[in-house]
Amino acid sequence: MQIGLFDSGIGGLTVLAEALRRLPDKDFLYMADTLHVPYGTKSKEDVRAFVFEIVDKMMNEGIDALVVACNTATSIAIAELRERYSLPIVGMEPAVKPAVEMNLATGKRVLVFATPLTLSLPKYYALVSSVDKMGIVDSLPLPELVQYCEALQFDKQVMNEYFLTKLSSYNLDDYGIIVLGCTHYPFYKDILRELLPPHIEIVDGNAGTVRRLAALLNRYGIPESGGGGSVRFMCSGNDPAYIDKMQTALAMLRGTETISESRST
Ligand code: DGL
Repeated sequence: MQIGLFDSGIGGLTVLAEALRRLPDKDFLYMADTLHVPYGTKSKEDVRAFVFEIVDKMMNEGIDALVVACNTATSIAIAELRERYSLPIVGMEPAVKPAVEMNLATGKRVLVFATPLTLSLPKYYALVSSVDKMGIVDSLPLPELVQYCEALQFDKQVMNEYFLTKLSSYNLDDYGIIVLGCTHYPFYKDILRELLPPHIEIVDGNAGTVRRLAALLNRYGIPESGGGGSVRFMCSGNDPAYIDKMQTALAMLRGTETISESRST
């Protein structure tokens, strides 16, 4: 029983790290679409084609469940994926609903960070208009953050400068929550935590996504325990250096120094 996760690049590793915490016995296949990363600045037609190409590749690897560990790909293709493939599929969307609910009592605003493509799609508008009755949600596209992340740019000074520039026109006292609506962004949670005023909470959809995955496995009669506890990495560009990068990035997220996962292109 193999669970597949994919993203344009290393962003979905933030979801995989959470899945490994919650479902440590399962076997995972992680696929990065290195031929087409980033998705968030491309056209929706292109990204749709990339998504089907990569999911076809994963199906050929014999996956039994799929996590679309990418908000952008989910926004574009989740409905069609569910029509085309008959396996349990979990998608992701910016955690706007819980953020709005958490903030209603405080009267503060919610700021959603995501890719330009996610924020421009009807699915996002539908999500916000269904939950944001008070008009408290603002959205900020951060395309450069995906590029920084792919380059493993975690220098605090560089990133602080970047965030401060992006946030310069916002009065942060007005905000109670920042939603990380792209799976690359949680790599910067610690840097953001130090930079942002302490009253601002930072939320992402990773724990919720893995909870939905576990529930779906249960529904399909697949036990949470049992399996080899392995992680296999692949990328569309068959690039061994990128496989190393994924291992490094996952180890970073898990706070481990030794990397024991098997590798494969
Ligand atoms: N990590 C992805 C997301 O959650 C895509 C980022 C990109 O490729 O632009 O939206």
